[in-house]
This record gives sequence, C-alpha cells and structure tokens, in this order.
Amino acid sequence: MLMNRAETLLVNSPPRRWLQRLYEAPLLARLGGRTLGAHVAEIGCGSGYGTRLILDVFGAATVDAVDLDPAMIERARRRLARYDGRVRLAVGDATDLRAAFDADDGTYDAVFDFGIIHHIPAWRDAVAEAARVLKPGGRFYFEEVTATALARPTYRALFDHPTKDRFTAGEFLAELSRHQLEFGEQWRTRTGGDYLLGVAERG
Ligand SMILES: C[S@@+](CC[C@H](N)C(=O)[O-])C[C@H]1O[C@@H](n2cnc3c(N)ncnc32)[C@H](O)[C@@H]1O
Repeated sequence: MLMNRAETLLVNSPPRRWLQRLYEAPLLARLGGRTLGAHVAEIGCGSGYGTRLILDVFGAATVDAVDLDPAMIERARRRLARYDGRVRLAVGDATDLRAAFDADDGTYDAVFDFGIIHHIPAWRDAVAEAARVLKPGGRFYFEEVTATALARPTYRALFDHPTKDRFTAGEFLAELSRHQLEFGEQWRTRTGGDYLLGVAERG
C-alpha cells in the first residue's frame, strides 16, 4: 500500500532522516555488522535515503532497490545519481524480486527493510521473498512498525496502512523463523513494542 501525503512528508522529513542515520543504522550495524563489499537488495527504498546509508555507512558494493511507488523511485533516481553503476532501481513489489531484478534464489548477501513490510497486505510473502533471495549466511536487516503502533489513534488518524492481519513483534519474529531466518539475540523492540529492529541470518 502506498503512503498517503502525511506519511510521505514525515518519512522524507529531516527528523526521520536523523533518526535513520544516527540511531537506526548504527543500531542495525551493531547488531548485524556492516555489509562491506556486499551485493544487497533494499525493499521499499522510498526516496533512496536508506539506499545511501547502505552504500556509505554499511559499505555495500551494490544495491538493488525496489519500491511500489514510481514517484519515490524517481526521487531515489535523483538522489542516487552519483552512485552510477552501483545502484539499480526498479518500480516493483517486494514480494516479487524476480520480476523487479530477475533475482534468483540466493542472489544477495543482505536484504534491508527500512519500515516497509507493515505496508504490505500479504506481509508474509515479503518475508518469504527476502529469505528466498538471500544466500545461506546472508543477513536480513529489518526495522518494522508493529500492530501495536498501527492501532494507536495518531497512526490511524494520520496514515494509511492495511488494517487486517498486522503483526506483533512476536509474530514477525515467528515468521522469520519459519523461513530459516535466525535472529538469536540480534533484535530489539522499542517504545513498548511499537517498533522492532533486528538482523536475522539465513540458515
Ligand atoms: C514508510 S515508507 C519507507 C520508505 C523508506 N524505506 C524509508 O525508510 O524512508 C514505505 C515504502 O514502502 C513502499 N511500498 C509499499 N508497499 C510496497 C511493496 N509491496 N513493494 C515495494 N515497496 C512498497 C511505499 O511506496 C513506501 O515508499
């Protein structure tokens, strides 16, 4: 599901960027390590700010970044122009990376999810697809918004999200396990379970 206007403004605002750069990326790097020289996929890349972090902070060599929204991909194209040759962008669905990038099983060293799977009605399919395209030992970096947050009055009033079958932190982690994505102690919840960050390794 695409973002509405309010969420588009918030997601592309300086405070959100600071949060992503100064808090989320360092925490994810601490939990799962950097991705030096890696071939990475990013699902729901939005305007490409996270893609830049994956290249500059995590040290990936190349990123295939997909988003459902052509307007976001256009913004990402402008933001990432100077990384020519290291980034492939596609309008497409996180549940089908074969359509977006012709991605076979075991293609990527890492997959990044900066707050996008909660936007997908068939969210389990996105987890399954991330697991499918990861190499054995590859890492899934996730930052997610749970059903607890989505049920809060402010979220409901301001933003558009699928309303059925949203996941708690525990349900999301259980789905990772079903797809051989092993997380050990490498995950954290925040603000009473509203947010979930972590790194899982493909068995
Ligand atoms: C909350 S935004 C996060 C954007 C970006 N990752 C960030 O952190 O700035 C969610 C993004 O997911 C995209 N999206 C929603 N459903 C999607 C799907 N099925 N496949 C790929 N992208 C999707 C939206 O268009 C939007 O850009």
